[in-house]
Amino acid sequence: MTNVLDQSAGTSWNAYNADTVEFTAGMPTNSIDLSVYSPPFSSLYIYSESERDMGNVDSHDEFFATYRHLIREKLRITKPGRLTAIHVKDLVFYSNSSEKGDRGLYHFTGECIRVHVEEGWTFHRLITIWRCPVKEMQKTKSDRLLYKNFRTDAARTGGGMPEYIAVFRKWNEAMENTPAVVHPPSQFPLDVWQEWASPVWMDTHETNVLNVGAKNDEERHLCPMPLDLTQRIVLQYSNPGETVYSPFMGIGSEGVVAVREGRKFLGTELKPAYFKRAVRNLQSAEENQTAGDLLDTFSGDAA
Ligand SMILES: C[S@@+](CC[C@H](N)C(=O)[O-])C[C@H]1O[C@@H](n2cnc3c(N)ncnc32)[C@H](O)[C@@H]1O
Repeated sequence: MTNVLDQSAGTSWNAYNADTVEFTAGMPTNSIDLSVYSPPFSSLYIYSESERDMGNVDSHDEFFATYRHLIREKLRITKPGRLTAIHVKDLVFYSNSSEKGDRGLYHFTGECIRVHVEEGWTFHRLITIWRCPVKEMQKTKSDRLLYKNFRTDAARTGGGMPEYIAVFRKWNEAMENTPAVVHPPSQFPLDVWQEWASPVWMDTHETNVLNVGAKNDEERHLCPMPLDLTQRIVLQYSNPGETVYSPFMGIGSEGVVAVREGRKFLGTELKPAYFKRAVRNLQSAEENQTAGDLLDTFSGDAA
């Protein structure tokens, strides 16, 4: 029996304060049209003290042992032929966390792809999200990006870190029975498709996140998923009225996009403070939902 700490619902969304691994295992088979989310980036951030917090782990192996269960159940609940899209990046490691004492990159994206494929998903698409290395240097002060190091010993320097969206498909004999995702040219013109089909998205904004609207007393999320990335995935890979799932909904970013775009949304989040913000954000998205040109909804930079 799933331990749901709290729950809330609107006309087009349901949100649960629960451990997603346990919750997803209780969801019906072939019930989700699309899932889109950022998983916890292994041990990069600890979101809460809970032992069920998947960021609260000592090693990547420990993280993937749990994430693997979710990936397997996510395949079961997804409709045949449909997709899951995960927003990920690689992780920098330093000498103090390395047995060898070296510094470099952990290919978290590659591990996520490997485990999805091992659990039965078909690797479908990898989108690289360009991010500015100058802003990254200013934010992280990483010595991999310092011009001083480039001048004195360039072998110490690396380069900017992109984000990725990895997309996987549930390949299944029954997939022909699932309705196709259809895009009338009036809503989705050829030039938009050509841009969104690009393997590298150069023009999205990391600051286009829900935190921008946080009130002073509200806890800001450590790493909310950019709204413009979610919007492209939701619009490309689901039909209006279909159900979009985020197993790690945080403050509700994926849900807000899904609701604004006329989809149904289902989300789970472990941390009560994030769950409460997600509920407020989903309520407000539903109240403010307007029919209009879908592609214009998030066209501006919210920062
Ligand atoms: C990368 S963040 C997702 C942020 C979200 N996309 C947003 O925009 O707000 C990962 C989230 O997973 C949550 N989380 C960690 N372990 C969890 C678990 N076992 N069940 C449900 N949520 C969990 C964390 O609290 C965190 O909010």
